[in-house]
Amino acid sequence: MRITMIGSGYVGLVSGACLADFGHDVVCVDKDEDKIAALQAGRIPIFEPGLDSLVAGNVKAGRLSFTTDLAGGVEGAEVIFIAVGTPARRGDGHADLSFVHEAARTIAPLLKDFTVVVTKSTVPVGTGDEIEKIIKKANPAADVAVVSNPEFLREGAAIDDFRRPDRIVVGLSDERAEAVMTEVYRPLYLNQAPILFTGRRTAELIKYAGNAFLAMKITFINEIADLCEQTGANVRQVAQGIGLDKRIGSKFLHAGPGYGGSCFPKDTVALAKTAQDFGSPLRLVETTVAVNTARKRSIARKIVAACGGDVSEKKIAILGLTFKPNTDDMRESPALTIIQALQDAGAEISAYDPEGMAHARTMMENVDFASDPYDAAKDAEALVIITEWNAFRAMDFKRLKQVMKTPLLVDLRNIYRKDEVKGHGFAYVGVGRPTEDYLSPVRLSVKANAS
Ligand code: UDX
Repeated sequence: MRITMIGSGYVGLVSGACLADFGHDVVCVDKDEDKIAALQAGRIPIFEPGLDSLVAGNVKAGRLSFTTDLAGGVEGAEVIFIAVGTPARRGDGHADLSFVHEAARTIAPLLKDFTVVVTKSTVPVGTGDEIEKIIKKANPAADVAVVSNPEFLREGAAIDDFRRPDRIVVGLSDERAEAVMTEVYRPLYLNQAPILFTGRRTAELIKYAGNAFLAMKITFINEIADLCEQTGANVRQVAQGIGLDKRIGSKFLHAGPGYGGSCFPKDTVALAKTAQDFGSPLRLVETTVAVNTARKRSIARKIVAACGGDVSEKKIAILGLTFKPNTDDMRESPALTIIQALQDAGAEISAYDPEGMAHARTMMENVDFASDPYDAAKDAEALVIITEWNAFRAMDFKRLKQVMKTPLLVDLRNIYRKDEVKGHGFAYVGVGRPTEDYLSPVRLSVKANAS
């Protein structure tokens, strides 16, 4: 099947490479000449495990190519995916659809035979209708079906998510398009991944509702973590205890510094705005956004408290800058707000991240970027883990203690056992876990949980 992918960013590139790997003939188009030149030269502009070899293999097999020439790229395509960015619009938080509309306007006159135009980009409810109108207006004779096929890929695990999805959602109302989309995903269909055919607006909303629900789940456990700190309970065990209930499920119940990334923050805001516009406000989502935003600064206050209430002229070492591990993506990373708040309080910051430092350098000022965790920890009065990279899971505490001014670990992802860290002579502060340093004598009378 001949497929064109418009937009070779994160979603377009991963989806294009995976579809080529299914055996389809895929052309990825992007107007960014540098990006296409890099891809043509075999360089992958993003960090995503496994993507470089997947792209190389499919380019070599002649199933995957890259171009800036949209007209040429669309020629003969049976399916055209739109996977361009939908960033938050400045000022009102709505999704900015200008790139999506532009893509629809550009392809409209190029459509000849029956073509399925599919939105992969995350777009608000009703965008499929708009795309259809734009195409029909520019080319009334176009034989086209506009379909919504949202992506649910997690950065860092995107290829695996594409190959082994929990479900594929396809929103359409055209039987020919249904047959085409079944063909596109046939390899997965044979793997028994459920394909859910819905109406187009329903598919568009499924994407937002899914992300909002996950964001809400994280935010819920983060607030429970705060309550655990006040009551002497242990959030990891609370998460386990509620997660074993199959109706709740154990995933996305890790308390931490708040969610970030290119999706949750923007999608929750956009959904809340859409809901307000339709006169059907989503108060839980609105509150989730507010609580998560406030959390990043409250986490900074927690670090200051762990340092005895004052970080002025103290060096704080930060481990992990990206919004989660296995990506170089810094977008909406909690580290940005936390570091700024610590700097506002007078702290000097050193930082280390395995993949994120190139981006971080362009987004942060007055940060001393270190070459490894021990270099970052030198003379620091606190070591703060913001992102749970594997490289931070088995650190040499003896070495850390030798280089640090004060042996204090603030573990915002709960990756260490308190007793283990304390055994090395460190003070330890986790998230939602009782810590003697944090408990008043009265609270200490509450029986502390293990770990
Ligand atoms: C997300 C969705 O998972 C994906 O389906 C969608 O298509 C795009 O958005 P991604 O942004 O790659 O994917 O990251 P994800 O792994 O979902 O994590 C998002 C944020 O939530 C991260 O900042 C992460 O640290 C945080 N998180 C996640 C928690 O704090 N606790 C958890 O239990 C899970």
